[in-house]
Amino acid sequence: MTKIEACIFDLDGVIVDTAKYHFIAWKSLAEELGFEFTHADNERLKGVSRMASLEILLEIGGLQFSEPEKWTMAEKKNTLYVTYIEEMTPDEILPGVPEFLLELKNNGVKIALGSASKNSPMILDRIQLTGMFDAVVDGNSITEAKPNPEVFLKGAERLGVLPENCVVFEDAIAGIEAARNAGMRCVGIGEPQTLGMADFVIPGFDGFTVSKFKGAFGEITIENHIGT
Ligand code: BG6
Ligand code: MG
Repeated sequence: MTKIEACIFDLDGVIVDTAKYHFIAWKSLAEELGFEFTHADNERLKGVSRMASLEILLEIGGLQFSEPEKWTMAEKKNTLYVTYIEEMTPDEILPGVPEFLLELKNNGVKIALGSASKNSPMILDRIQLTGMFDAVVDGNSITEAKPNPEVFLKGAERLGVLPENCVVFEDAIAGIEAARNAGMRCVGIGEPQTLGMADFVIPGFDGFTVSKFKGAFGEITIENHIGT
């Protein structure tokens, strides 16, 4: 029988749609460097760390720069990105997310954030969800990017739960691979064609309930940690 004690959520693309702001900021940098950056290109950056995203962008543009120049560019992109996320409000939480998080908590399931983004604390603050998480592991507390499992293993450790009793919610292929590498189960958020490595895929949390969650995994028990 599958035992679920904790759920670990990616942030970008799972709780909020920040890909549109990343896109504007990377596109602006690309234009400044003299090449075009498309929505299809942006898909390649999902779940990928900031510096790795810059490497992909420069590869698309066929350009090479020194390390200090790259740090300056990443900083510039982030400054523009932050102007957008600073304005975020709870209205930008994706449909069904608060309800599902609350239902998990009411069922005694521990909840962690597992994101590559160094901007996670600011985003959680702006959308007023910081208090919902029992642990937050983000780009500031990890050294290895997804698909390395570090972010999810740290999340499980901070919650005091074994990896095999955790389920990860992810929208990026690199994130699903990271969950697999951590020995965790994984729910894909998006298209089944893209996220085939997940245990199952849902389009989003709208209408998704703990009962559906249990049903999708077949026989599972939810371990109640209320009061522990
Ligand atoms: C991930 C996003 O969550 O965080 C990536 O999917 C992003 O697109 C990465 O590059 C790092 O984010 P940040 O906010 O630290 O630049
Ligand atoms: Mg994501």
